[in-house]
Amino acid sequence: MDKTITSEVDFKAIDEILKSCDYKKSHLIAMLQKVQAIYRYLPEEAMTYIGEKVDGLSPATVFGVATFYAQFSLEPKGKYEIKVCDGTACHVRGSLPVLNAIKEKIKLEDGKFTTKDGLFTLEIVSCLGACGLAPVVVINEKVYPQMTPDAISVILDTLMKEEQ
Ligand code: FES
Repeated sequence: MDKTITSEVDFKAIDEILKSCDYKKSHLIAMLQKVQAIYRYLPEEAMTYIGEKVDGLSPATVFGVATFYAQFSLEPKGKYEIKVCDGTACHVRGSLPVLNAIKEKIKLEDGKFTTKDGLFTLEIVSCLGACGLAPVVVINEKVYPQMTPDAISVILDTLMKEEQ
C-alpha cells in the first residue's frame, strides 16, 4: 500500500480534471475537490496552475476559494484522518487521555498534526453531535464510540498492521 504523501504535482492529471470540468470557472469547487481527492490536500502548484489555465480565474482567486471552505486542506494530510472530539461531553468522559494515547501510539511529534510517514493526521474537533457515545473518535468518517486509551490503541494497532 502507498504510505507516502504524494508531493509532486502531476499536471497531466490536473489537465484531465480541468477538461472534465470544461475549463469553467463555475466548476472551481469541483476541480478543487478532484485535486484534493488525488493529493489529500491542495498543493500550491496545483492551485496556481488552475488559476492560470482557467479563464476568469487567477491564482489568488483559487487560493481565496480554497481557504474559504473548510472542506479544503492546504496542508498535506495523512492517509488516516483521526478526529478526536473534545466537546464538553467527550471532554468530561475522558477525551484527553484518549488523545494522548493516540499521540503516543502514532508517535506524533510535538507541534505536528501529521506523522512523518504520512499515515496519520490528528485533529481535535468540537462536538460531533454524538454526545451519547462520548468520548468519540472518528477515523476517515468511521465513528468509534466510548473510546478509552486501550481501545483506541487496539484500533490503531490494527490499522498499522494493515499497512505493513
Ligand atoms: S461533545 Fe463529543 S460528540 Fe458531542
